[in-house]
Amino acid sequence: MSIEASHLTESAQKALLLTDQERIYKIKSDRWIGYPYAKEVLQQLDELLKHPRNNRMPNMILIGESNNGKTMLAKRFCQLNPAFDNPNGDSVIAPVMYIQAPPVPDEGRFYNAILDSLFAPYRPSERVDKKQFQVLKLLRYVELKVLVVDEIHHILAGSLHRQRAFLNVLKYLSNELQISIVGVGTKDALRALQTEPQLANRFKPIQLPRWELNDDFKRLLASFEKMLPLKHPSELKQDALASRLYAMCEGYIGELSGVLNTAAEWAILNGTEHINQKALAEIRWTPPSERKRQIDRAQ
Ligand SMILES: Nc1ncnc2c1ncn2[C@@H]1O[C@H](COP(=O)(O)OP(=O)(O)OP(=O)(O)O)[C@@H](O)[C@H]1O
Ligand SMILES: [Mg+2]
Repeated sequence: MSIEASHLTESAQKALLLTDQERIYKIKSDRWIGYPYAKEVLQQLDELLKHPRNNRMPNMILIGESNNGKTMLAKRFCQLNPAFDNPNGDSVIAPVMYIQAPPVPDEGRFYNAILDSLFAPYRPSERVDKKQFQVLKLLRYVELKVLVVDEIHHILAGSLHRQRAFLNVLKYLSNELQISIVGVGTKDALRALQTEPQLANRFKPIQLPRWELNDDFKRLLASFEKMLPLKHPSELKQDALASRLYAMCEGYIGELSGVLNTAAEWAILNGTEHINQKALAEIRWTPPSERKRQIDRAQ
């Protein structure tokens, strides 16, 4: 590969050999950037995995605003700890499981999500206690250690009574199986947990804050740049570009990813092959707060 592509990772350099459309497809595909705080959180999650099983397992709740990388982080943790064949049996060992909380705090649907994730056959109309029995048996069988429950703020979409009942299910699973539970959600999730103080103090809150315009953000820009297969360097971390990008994304990594993907596509289609002020102007990005105002006005 020629020296001009030294601004890219090896994989992005290889992508330069693809057609424009293939490159655009690659740009739009998921990618993982291990920024330092994400690594810290992953390490804390790893501590849960290493924790010996006991009668009071530590839990965590990862909270942050929408579109700021919570699900990516949770899924990364799962990818790093995939299921593997049990050398002593015919099933698999699955140390980590990821599920989404059902849209309402419903015990039966929660078990369905777990059974679906295990590809276990079940009848949706089955009695809840039978489903619970099956879930406990299977999770013991796969030796689950950490259950990640995304969108945990969905708990709030039910009466206080149902919220409590659902939280008790979490507590029961954690105690019975001696597993850690990692809730993931918006800050409302914390409010939901608070309805059950005995449970709340067993969940360590971890915040995923919005980005600020600082050196960390500039390093994040540099990481994105390395992964976007454009033929020329963009120098995104330069002050003027960094400030403009920050204003466009308002500190949300999901917005930043959207802005950069769209600008990179523009740069390919227009032959400039790098992201500059013109590209950022041409893509007409509406920052999230303005988008929200537009929606509010339309209602
Ligand atoms: N570590 C990362 N590396 C690269 N891109 C990321 C990373 N984290 C987040 N993103 C980008 O941000 C987008 C939003 O992330 P994610 O879906 O994890 O947000 P979220 O906090 O779970 O949002 P919500 O509360 O709406 O579910 C992702 O689709 C991805 O494009
Ligand atoms: Mg999410």
